[in-house]
Amino acid sequence: MAGQGEAVPIRAIANGPLTGEAQIPGDKSVSHRALILGALAVGETRISGLLEGEDVIDTGKAMRAFGATVERHGPGEWSVHGVGVGGFREPQGVIDFGNSGTGVRLVMGAMATSNVTATFTGDASLCSRPMGRIVDPLALFGARAHGRKGGFLPITLVGAENPVPVRYVTPMPSAQVKSAVLLAGLNAPGTTIVTEREPTRDHTERMLAGFGARIETEVTPEGRVIRLQGHPELRPQRVSVPRDPSSAAFPVAAALIVEGSAITVPGVSRNPTRAGFYETLLEMGARIGFANVREEGGEPVADLEVAFSALQGVEVPPERAASMIDEYPVLAALASFAEGPTVMRGIGELRVKECDRIDAMAEGLEACGVSVEQGPDYMIVHGRGARGVRGGATVRSRLDHRIAMSFLCFGLGTEQEVVIDDGRPIATSFPDFTGLMRGLGAEFAG
Ligand code: S3P
Repeated sequence: MAGQGEAVPIRAIANGPLTGEAQIPGDKSVSHRALILGALAVGETRISGLLEGEDVIDTGKAMRAFGATVERHGPGEWSVHGVGVGGFREPQGVIDFGNSGTGVRLVMGAMATSNVTATFTGDASLCSRPMGRIVDPLALFGARAHGRKGGFLPITLVGAENPVPVRYVTPMPSAQVKSAVLLAGLNAPGTTIVTEREPTRDHTERMLAGFGARIETEVTPEGRVIRLQGHPELRPQRVSVPRDPSSAAFPVAAALIVEGSAITVPGVSRNPTRAGFYETLLEMGARIGFANVREEGGEPVADLEVAFSALQGVEVPPERAASMIDEYPVLAALASFAEGPTVMRGIGELRVKECDRIDAMAEGLEACGVSVEQGPDYMIVHGRGARGVRGGATVRSRLDHRIAMSFLCFGLGTEQEVVIDDGRPIATSFPDFTGLMRGLGAEFAG
């Protein structure tokens, strides 16, 4: 689990251009959902390209605790023998989700309408993240939660004995909240209806349809209305996990800021609900191409071709936030190398991620000579141009994989080296990040 044992500092040192091919691991969101839906289907689901990061491994362990058989057959090759909707058995011990908000929130949803009780916990980061946003809608189905004051983990969730279907409007743009409600709706009779005002990643909807659930999405003036019929028999599937666009963002950003770089990143998901970062890069003047666009495992994918670019600061439209919510830290790093300010508004959700990501980026960038303004839901990075960023500081990664990776990429373009105080959180989502980056020519030292 991230945060156990000794901290592992890593230094990023400018070392000339990045070149070659980056094989990005499987998408984290799709990997969690493949294990959970596999566990809720009757029979054997086969998964290829599963992300073997700590977060996803924890979800696999949780599915075992609820009675599914989860096995690894080779790198990224997994099978899940599911127990069917409503078939979860009661776990014997406490379920520890480590650093993973997605894992714990989706699994709470998946169990909330089964007649079982389970206790969930996590690391220091996860235990400080809001869970009221999940347990409140789950209470509408009849589930009862007992946790710390303020709705923090550890939480014991008592699943509803006689669940009822729910109509719910998500109060914040969150695919985790939407997904928790939909997964709970599987074992409620009748139709569960979730409305989201702004579209968030739609992997749960796509995958539920693929597993045979009756689910439809209607775009209305109030937002996206998703209707799910309860009590489907989910059919096991072969799931091929596309490569994670949020992980790809790191080598892409590094190649854009290190002079002379040219890399390719094959097979990355181009799901429109995840595409905001790449749209923003194009607006900044990034030289990035999307070749060989095709469909893999129910998701659009493309091969990215990226070259060092002179970047301009931009104003990112707030309505784009949900489609790039995990990419703001690396965008802030990259924006330091652009000409002029990059303005990011409507990003209050960043304050309740693995850490307060607005504050973490502002603190680290300021220490490295970049001026940053921040407010409750915005951040403005004053770019210094491709050659004007000093670096030369040790920054805190705050138990947050994306903060750690953002500053390591940042340090490949700065005049002086950049040190992160702890690289261990990277294993939650991108275990071979340093190896992959070194393969492109990056210099990281202990
Ligand atoms: C995720 C949803 C997002 C995102 C997280 C993964 C998912 O969180 O930040 O990394 O897989 O559903 P929110 O739902 O809190 O926005």
